Amino acid sequence: MAALRILVTGSTGFLGGFVVDAVRQAGHVPLTTARSGGDVAVDLAAKGMVAAVTEALQPDVVLHLAAMSRLAECDADPAAAARVNTVLAEECARRFGARLLFASTDLVFDGRSAPYAESATPSPLSVYGASKAEGEERVRRHGSRVVRLPLLFGPDAHGRGATAQLRRGFARQSRMALYTNEYRTPLHAADAARALVAAVADPDGPTVFHLPGPERVSRWQLGQRFCAVQGLSMAAIEPVECQDPLRPRDVSLLGELRASRSLDEMLLDC
Ligand SMILES: NC(=O)c1ccc[n+]([C@@H]2O[C@H](COP(=O)([O-])OP(=O)(O)OC[C@H]3O[C@@H](n4cnc5c(N)ncnc54)[C@H](OP(=O)(O)O)[C@@H]3O)[C@@H](O)[C@H]2O)c1
Repeated sequence: MAALRILVTGSTGFLGGFVVDAVRQAGHVPLTTARSGGDVAVDLAAKGMVAAVTEALQPDVVLHLAAMSRLAECDADPAAAARVNTVLAEECARRFGARLLFASTDLVFDGRSAPYAESATPSPLSVYGASKAEGEERVRRHGSRVVRLPLLFGPDAHGRGATAQLRRGFARQSRMALYTNEYRTPLHAADAARALVAAVADPDGPTVFHLPGPERVSRWQLGQRFCAVQGLSMAAIEPVECQDPLRPRDVSLLGELRASRSLDEMLLDC
């Protein structure tokens, strides 16, 4: 296959770094943009910026990762969440159509009917989930594709992602409360990145698809498994039951694409 020029929006984010590496490993050319870095550093949601970045970088295809991804920030400013997660996504989709793959989330579901197939109808509980669900609907109107990602983890110098947060807690020697009743299908960000690059390079791929990790586990089980494979003391983690009605209990995903390594292998690589 000829090398593609792949635009990665949100390239400075937690997933973005893994995706840029995966683009290179697959023999393609990464083109990067974020607010604070990348080949072109701009607020992509500002007027005219999608056109300016497109003009400057001339991509063949786009992995649209740029997002307001922190739930608390979305709760504090729903208008900003809509501007970035919905309106910007639509703006990119209008320009790129089927050449764009939009990164969505398992949090478009309410957690009451897991496991979720690709055909399940979104029913978000949070502002973040709602802004992404609306983004999905709008990008699909322009022929763009949607991938729903689960909870991601992996090594990160900035302490982002589920296992890096645990590592930070160990470094601080603080006891960490992990929910026993919140289930996910977590995936290593490097595995997610490889699958995203393969998908955006394949014009015949599905319109909406999921990338579940290899197992359904609670956050508490994920913490236990991480400690076990990394040889860390379980005394630092504490099982706690989540009582917050706005946090979905089980957003496990079903999907055709199967991870090529086990959860323990992924957790070792963190
Ligand atoms: N991480 C997960 O567990 C997970 C799970 C499911 C889905 N996802 C989805 O996967 C994607 C990547 O997630 P992530 O964890 O890598 O997010 P992240 O670490 O918060 O990174 C977000 C990226 O988007 C950029 N960005 C935000 N607003 C922008 C704007 N107005 N203009 C230009 N760039 C902007 C940020 O740039 P600056 O830093 O310069 O602002 C950053 O590069 C997101 O769409 C997220 O919803 C992530």
